[in-house]
Amino acid sequence: MVFLLSAALAVGVWTKGGGPVTLREAAAKRRLLFGTAVAARYLNEPDYVEVLGREFSQAEPENEMKFGSLHPRPDTDPNPYDFKDADAIVDFALAHKMKVRGHCFVWYQQVARWVTAGTHTPEELSTILKNHIDTVAKHFAGKVYAWDVVNEAVMDDGSMRHTVWYDRPGIGLADKGTGYIEQAFQWAHDADRRAKLYYNDYSCETINPKSDGIYAMLQDFKKRRVPVDGVGFQMHIGLWANNPTTLDSIRKNFQRFADLGLDIQITEMDVSLSDNKPETLAQEADLYRAITDICVHQRRVKAIQTWGFTDKHSWISQFNRSRGWALPFDDKYQAKPAYAAILEALSDKR
Ligand code: G3I
Repeated sequence: MVFLLSAALAVGVWTKGGGPVTLREAAAKRRLLFGTAVAARYLNEPDYVEVLGREFSQAEPENEMKFGSLHPRPDTDPNPYDFKDADAIVDFALAHKMKVRGHCFVWYQQVARWVTAGTHTPEELSTILKNHIDTVAKHFAGKVYAWDVVNEAVMDDGSMRHTVWYDRPGIGLADKGTGYIEQAFQWAHDADRRAKLYYNDYSCETINPKSDGIYAMLQDFKKRRVPVDGVGFQMHIGLWANNPTTLDSIRKNFQRFADLGLDIQITEMDVSLSDNKPETLAQEADLYRAITDICVHQRRVKAIQTWGFTDKHSWISQFNRSRGWALPFDDKYQAKPAYAAILEALSDKR
């Protein structure tokens, strides 16, 4: 708590009651949600739930709403779905007046083995995916306000990723390029007309061949009134991003998607570091400040969300032990310089 007070002192932001302002309060003043990925297995950790409930206005299950987690058994099973862990996150979020963001209906990873190891025809896979989207969207209707309908369907060169849902063997639309993506958005819209529907991807934050491919797809969807509301930029970055050229490209890229009439969310931000020396953490803070500043000045940005919030539980170290220290709170739930930098950017009156 001491650092929180000094963070508030540093950026001079206080609540009406005289306490240090939180990320969610400072974000709300800029009509933004401030979110984080949440793992059900940590909801029994007092520090975890204390910081989560205090600082964040949006929660997104890190893994618990993915196909393999929610739908582990075939539709022939009397009980194909398992909503327990996802419901625990939703219940916590709603009890703490947090919005809930769903992730994700269609992804090539963490798909149940009964699907990927099966010998389903495209027609069978189409029925499986339609039923999955319909069942899950209806289960969370009124509680999940926005969904990553399709995640990471585009390659770095802008071409379509070859996946079980596209053409391996796909749902019968492999000859129509983005047709299976369009179909997924339509099924999600039919199942829950109130939900905001997003396309979500990584390495597409700047103007590059991948974001060009996504832009072309979403421009076509908007022209043909496919029910897509927004684009999620994951923002898994490193200190390499902290330079004027990259930041300007992010700004311009956000603007072109905004000009399509799409909402924007940063959905999975973390800044992967190779050490946690004070000077490295200061550079990390500079980058969090710069990205937050871009969001504050782009009216179509609706939320900034980090992928977890404590270095104690970041996916990065699971995948690469030499990297980490990527989030606003350290492994003892103490606010890092990045936390004060985000508050500063949210509170900057410029
Ligand atoms: O739940 C099992 C557990 O029962 C088992 O004992 C354990 C040991 O293997 O694995 C556990 O599952 C792991 C799961 O996370 C839950 O912790 C999987 O192995 C592991 O692969 C999975 O990693 C997740 C990763 O997506 C999968 O690609 C990360 O937690 C999650 O943060 C990460 O999130 C993705 C987003 O969904 C999409 N954007 C990229 C982002 C980072 O990769």
